[in-house]
Amino acid sequence: MNGNLLPVIKVKVVVVGDAGVGKTSLAVRFTDNSFIQHYKQTVGGNEFCSRALDFKDKTVVFNIWDTAGQERFRSLVPMYLRDAGIALAVYDISSHNKQYCTILFRNPLRILSWLLQLQQYGPRDLKCALIGNKIDLDDDLREVPTQEGQLLAEGHGLYFEETSAKSGDRIDKVFNDIGIALVERC
Ligand code: GTP
Ligand code: MG
Repeated sequence: MNGNLLPVIKVKVVVVGDAGVGKTSLAVRFTDNSFIQHYKQTVGGNEFCSRALDFKDKTVVFNIWDTAGQERFRSLVPMYLRDAGIALAVYDISSHNKQYCTILFRNPLRILSWLLQLQQYGPRDLKCALIGNKIDLDDDLREVPTQEGQLLAEGHGLYFEETSAKSGDRIDKVFNDIGIALVERC
């Protein structure tokens, strides 16, 4: 129970995806409502942050585990998937910054390999969402049409949304939607 005397549901949210797609930025935007322009890659294990949202008759505490996207840390992801309730598979809708976004979503192996890893190592009841980030960028920088993400998500039965960690656009919506679905299931 919290201060509002609502029953509390705690859920572990693991954020995965290639380096530089905005996983840390998304977590920081949601939990701290801030944005860091300077890229500081997540190294080694991961970082943890948390925020609670109230729904009609329950409070959901989102415990967010932000993983490192670099290939050399990938073997650590299965460990973080233990006990996870939700996984966000994040990609960058643009390819403008090739220094850290080296391989496009367009190569289906990239995002599919993350989805496969979630399927392989995540708990049986893990709910996965596909998130296309950086929609604040100019249209001419977009490499992945919305429909492409949508179709991929539909094909895998995933929740789908496009976000901007920079502007905050639809970040809260993602967690609201996920929270509502969670509360309905409990
Ligand atoms: P790793 O920790 O290496 O796996 O990367 P990451 O996925 O955590 O990426 P991070 O959040 O550190 O963001 C990488 C870069 O992209 C940073 O320079 C961010 O400022 C920038 N960035 C993140 N989200 C957005 C966004 O929504 N829009 C724009 N324009 N830039 C973003
Ligand atoms: Mg990071």
